[in-house]
Amino acid sequence: MTPAPAHHWLRPPADGSPARFAYGADYNPEQWPREVWKEDVRLMREAGVTIVSVAIFSWARLQPAEDRWDFEWLDEVLDLLHSNGITVDLATATASPPPWLTTLHPEILPVTRTGETLAQGARQHWRPTSPVFREYALRLVEAMATRYADHPALVAWHISNELGCHNIYDYSDDAARYFRDWLRTRYGTLDGLNHAWATSFWSQRYGDWDEIQPPRLAASHANPTQQLDFKRFSSDALKDYLRAERDVLRRLTPAIPVTTNFMVMGGTKGMSYPDWAEEIDFVSNDHYAHPGPQRLDELSFSAGLTHSIAGGRPWFLMEHSTSAVNWQTVNLAKREGELARDSLVHVAHGADAVCFFQWRQSAAGAEKYHSAMVPHAGPDSEVFRAVTALGRTLEALTPVVGSVREPARAALVYDWESWWAVERDSQPSSLLDYRQEALDWYSAFLSLGVRVDVVTTSADLTGYDFVAAPLLHVVPRALAGRLEAFVRGGGHLATTYYSGVVDENDHVHLGGYPGALRELLGIRVEEFGPLQEGVEVRLDNGLTGGLWTDRIEVTDPEATVLARYGSGDQAGRPAITRRVPAGGGSAAYVSTRLGGEGLSEVLGSLLSGAGVLSELPAEVRGRVELTVRTDGVHAYWFLVNRTDGPVACGTVAGQLMTGHQEAAEEGLVLPPRGVAVLRVATGASPFGPRVPGTAPVE
Ligand code: GLA
Repeated sequence: MTPAPAHHWLRPPADGSPARFAYGADYNPEQWPREVWKEDVRLMREAGVTIVSVAIFSWARLQPAEDRWDFEWLDEVLDLLHSNGITVDLATATASPPPWLTTLHPEILPVTRTGETLAQGARQHWRPTSPVFREYALRLVEAMATRYADHPALVAWHISNELGCHNIYDYSDDAARYFRDWLRTRYGTLDGLNHAWATSFWSQRYGDWDEIQPPRLAASHANPTQQLDFKRFSSDALKDYLRAERDVLRRLTPAIPVTTNFMVMGGTKGMSYPDWAEEIDFVSNDHYAHPGPQRLDELSFSAGLTHSIAGGRPWFLMEHSTSAVNWQTVNLAKREGELARDSLVHVAHGADAVCFFQWRQSAAGAEKYHSAMVPHAGPDSEVFRAVTALGRTLEALTPVVGSVREPARAALVYDWESWWAVERDSQPSSLLDYRQEALDWYSAFLSLGVRVDVVTTSADLTGYDFVAAPLLHVVPRALAGRLEAFVRGGGHLATTYYSGVVDENDHVHLGGYPGALRELLGIRVEEFGPLQEGVEVRLDNGLTGGLWTDRIEVTDPEATVLARYGSGDQAGRPAITRRVPAGGGSAAYVSTRLGGEGLSEVLGSLLSGAGVLSELPAEVRGRVELTVRTDGVHAYWFLVNRTDGPVACGTVAGQLMTGHQEAAEEGLVLPPRGVAVLRVATGASPFGPRVPGTAPVE
């Protein structure tokens, strides 16, 4: 089913022409003298910029003292942008409190787990639960909304900035108070809490709510459910703050849509974005590429997950980089073609806006070596030429705006609670890496050329033929029931080691692992067999496992062994199993870490068994990522060259919409790191008839 697009933020042009991709950046004119502003707007027009995010870090400038306000400069900036046809995503400016505020009220500063108070002097130094911070911040939001409610440039509100990037976990006394309230709401009674937290262990029983604290630095491992609840609470506390700003904006400017920029799979996993998404009018995301062999896979994975979090509706890429960032160990410049390809991968996954941090590279300050649309070298630069070329490409893709991603037949489940749970202390192995395992599965799908939707545990799985749920550790009974129903209905499930083990309170499902999924998988594990770092085991199918093994016993006659361990402590025992119950579905279990390459072999045969096939010609699978967007009439096939060489795709049908390809006699050739978008009728394929079952995955 194709969800309806929601275009709150793409105000259609007044002249009746179709809505275009939003294109632009964070714009920080307060860092520059006025003369530069004039050049900025001229260059923005040259680059095809349609929108900028303004005033993100402007609090100290807008309110230089508690009782002084200065909006004139911002009035001028907004007027200038508007008169040049550039729209504004206006920040509420609350991201970073000014020094006068932290001096007057040091009690707004966050406190770390080890009891240190964070100082002013960087950014985002505020407690999500501070009533004092909230009062000052909401006063600013109110002032912004009142002043700019009717400004013609204003098309969206940008709440704060990357909420939680630096302050998601605060262990202050404010946090302690709000944590207790949150726990009261969750558990109702202390008995309920004592049960959930299993406080009979280590003499932790609570007799009064006021005895409860955040999991501050303690003598040994803090209570694991307390830790998990503190993560849930911290996400909710910041969400509550988001709502407070949003409510002011909705009261004063009900017609202006509200967003805040997420960091899906970014530096912190603290914010449960699937829960946040419904609080705002449209989802925005910031993404920065991580150098390494899975750079592009991770980018695509994150974009796909953002698409799901956005409920399948078009979303807004609020920030990415034109080239290097400034905060990695070594900050690599993007190579030729990467600026456009990175952007278009987001577009392929449903973004209708492509924005960067930032418009003009700062001459000073902590981010002066972070790239921008206008680099230090000025507009006579490769980066600015690539920026203007991308502006033209996006214009050529205008018909794609408003279309939505066509659902895939396979899904990959990404679960925040499991992510939180497996990476805490006191696990069978401290080497567990939730994100990496999920990413390896995603890489395996990409290498097979099979489209996959990244979904969260709340997604309706019934439309999928195949669901991979790696490291799905936290499985409440209800979720286990949904997975059972999925398989009963003919769906094919694959999961991995350390899945199904605990319920929502982090209590083990007793009777043997994989706990809640034991019967569905038809296996029983008495003991985990984690491996020391660097230790590998051979499987009898030629693959190599690492990180983990399980002592598996097959308990159900409907389950078969797909591969056995050939070495290590579990030699001769099952390594990969699959249960095929009557009814047509199946449930497979992979008990070791195979990595992207190993997984692609296993996944290839599981997908074949499920009848899920690649829609790409065999010779380009793995080298080209395919994503399809549709508006119900046309389908837009995004073909992304994942390699550094040209890829010949053969003869294709349909209309070529981008300049990122070469027409050659033998058909479509994608240049190194190039992207082609082909328009065909919805339901058709540029590669010939789309008949499922004709081209098995190899
Ligand atoms: C984040 C922030 C920006 C900037 C960039 C740099 O995304 O929102 O203000 O610091 O990182 O990559």
